[in-house]
Amino acid sequence: MSIPPHGGVLVQRILKGQLAQAARERAQSLPKIPLTRAQLADLEMLAIGAYSPLTGYLRREDYLRVLRDMRLSNDLVWPIPITLAVDEEIVEDLREGQDAALCEGNRPLAILHVEEIYRYDKEAEAKAVFRTTEEAHPGVARLYAQGDWLVAGDIWLFDWPSAAREVFPELRLTPQQTRQIFRERGWRRIVAFQTRNPLHRAHEYIQKTALEIVDGLLLHPLVGETKPDDVPADVRMATYRVVIEKYFPKDRVLLSVFPAPMRYAGPREAVLHALARKNYGCTHFIVGRDHAGVGNYYGTYDAQRIFDEFPPEDIGITPLFFEHAFYCYGCGTVVTSKTCPHDESQRLHLSGTQVRAMLRRGESLPPEFTRPEVNEILLSAYQTVNTAMARG
Ligand code: ADX
Repeated sequence: MSIPPHGGVLVQRILKGQLAQAARERAQSLPKIPLTRAQLADLEMLAIGAYSPLTGYLRREDYLRVLRDMRLSNDLVWPIPITLAVDEEIVEDLREGQDAALCEGNRPLAILHVEEIYRYDKEAEAKAVFRTTEEAHPGVARLYAQGDWLVAGDIWLFDWPSAAREVFPELRLTPQQTRQIFRERGWRRIVAFQTRNPLHRAHEYIQKTALEIVDGLLLHPLVGETKPDDVPADVRMATYRVVIEKYFPKDRVLLSVFPAPMRYAGPREAVLHALARKNYGCTHFIVGRDHAGVGNYYGTYDAQRIFDEFPPEDIGITPLFFEHAFYCYGCGTVVTSKTCPHDESQRLHLSGTQVRAMLRRGESLPPEFTRPEVNEILLSAYQTVNTAMARG
């Protein structure tokens, strides 16, 4: 028996065949709402049921309850509001109770049944979701830049955003598809690993440690919008492929992509990431150091502590918490402070900033930090960027 999706029903909001064609034709005459890249990613997440039980964008009552209590108005845990923000001039064309077309540029992709249109307090949302109102936080910056109105209602998708067709289409498994694959492979206990970074040895260590107690690993890199200085998804993907190829038993790992945009909301996003992976059929979810964090906005283990605020059955998927992992020369392997007796002088720590600086200078990352094959991929990606910058 596979794990139930969040709320009990795996949502699917995708029209096919004649229904899709009819919706496509009708959309032409509806008011159009152009979506940003991050909004397109959320639309895809809703349509495939990764955000089950949501069938669309939150109504005001749910929105406020999510901000205040991290629950929907029916009490189901939900940590981050999934909303559709639009500008004043778009709102002028919309009517509650009528339909609108959600578009990529001018191309309609989905029908939105507009249930409610409401104003909201961006600072209150920033404080609740991101624990800061500073615009230097990339999630807060995106929130402040978006429209001043929220449009609530259910969606039906009839055409895919271009990212879904062009960016790793072969790895874009829906929750239904991953569940099917887990069944076929006979995996009953599955751990999911969220990542937005190239795969380093600390990541590999916590994945392998988790894999010791389950049947399979879903390596699930996020490929929706990330901040500009994060490593691009195609470079990251090359690192995932090579590490699986060379260092994992292939029949125990499924590589697939997670279309969501990154919010950098730390603790609350860790809960969202966990619930979404439950929808994909996973039973366990890895939360390591500063999960979904950015800068110094969150404490190293805040994204683990937040799970204590809920009875485990309200989350459903089991979080697996990992301490900060690093290579220790004294131990001769990757460890954490739970398993290593040596002092700091023996431990290799490289921050993201240090790693980026080394790669920019064309310096290799030590094999204790990253596999040589990953180093090669990152070095050549940085070389391409350096050459392009030198050319101006
Ligand atoms: S995240 O934004 O997706 O969380 P990243 O790809 O760096 O960023 O992390 C993926 C997962 O690995 C997260 O659960 C994170 O907490 C964990 N993680 C990353 N680096 C380490 C580390 N050195 N030690 C322990 N956990 C880590």
